Amino acid sequence: VTEIPEHLLRRSKAAKAGKAGEGEPAAETGSEAGAPGPARAPAAQAPATRPAAPVPAEPAPEPVKPDPPYIAAYKQRRRIPVWALPVVVFLPIWALSFAGTMQVPVKEDPLLAEAASLYTALGCAACHGPAGQGGIGHQFSAGEINLTFPEPIDQMVHIARGSAPIVGQAYGDPDRPGGAHVAGDLGVMPAFPNITLLELEMVTYHERAVLSTEVDPGPEFEAWVERMRADLAAHVEQPIDLEFLLSCANPEYTPGATGENRGDEACPGPVAEP
Ligand code: HEC
Repeated sequence: VTEIPEHLLRRSKAAKAGKAGEGEPAAETGSEAGAPGPARAPAAQAPATRPAAPVPAEPAPEPVKPDPPYIAAYKQRRRIPVWALPVVVFLPIWALSFAGTMQVPVKEDPLLAEAASLYTALGCAACHGPAGQGGIGHQFSAGEINLTFPEPIDQMVHIARGSAPIVGQAYGDPDRPGGAHVAGDLGVMPAFPNITLLELEMVTYHERAVLSTEVDPGPEFEAWVERMRADLAAHVEQPIDLEFLLSCANPEYTPGATGENRGDEACPGPVAEP
């Protein structure tokens, strides 16, 4: 149980005494100066109107009551500072343009991605340019590679074998604009004997269809791309067989080609007409 402190008890006793006694409040008013005095004085003078007395005293100041400083400041403050207006206006525009830069390729084609990274990883980009624009070795872009090799298979042989074994011999389409390319004219293209068949097909595809523009990406070409896609997904790692590649190549374009298996389903690339 809470004990009521002595001074509170005394105060309530005094208050009760003030209400009950008629003469005492006057004496109190006289003896106690300050705030409590005037508050009680009207009550003592007019006991009948005592409940009503405090009421009119309070509502009077309310209409002129000034806003607290923080409310006044808030009311005076402009909603958007002038300096911020351009920011506010351009924010949505900026947000839209920024969203534009965030666009991620919808879904990266694993075949295209792998082919592109091979082109760099095997060093092709270093000699032929990242965009196939040419450098130490020939240009591929702007249709150049397709002019040299009308079919992918002869290009594959050239990459796998390099140009050292055929230095001095023409290769590719002899009627290409600018004349037939002759091995050794620009230097020596290194051989890639340890490349897998799928890797060979993929760099070939990258150079023709991505860095350049495939002249006739007809149904056979599309079928070849689908085969590569499937082989990549299945992680096929078949080593190359240069002899077999030479049997698939065109003797008119590739020195040393026999062409005896031309048109065979087992030949890489779009299946060439026999
Ligand atoms: C060390 C530099 C070098 C690297 C690495 C290299 N090449 Fe070459 N490439 C050459 C040179 C030089 C030639 C021209 C050779 C010649 O004149 O006999 C050439 C020729 C070619 C050609 C014949 C193009 C034409 O139109 O005659 C093809 C195709 C080719 N390279 C593909 C590739 C691929 C694919 C790779 C990567 C797997 C590659 N090269 C890596 C230097 C390089």
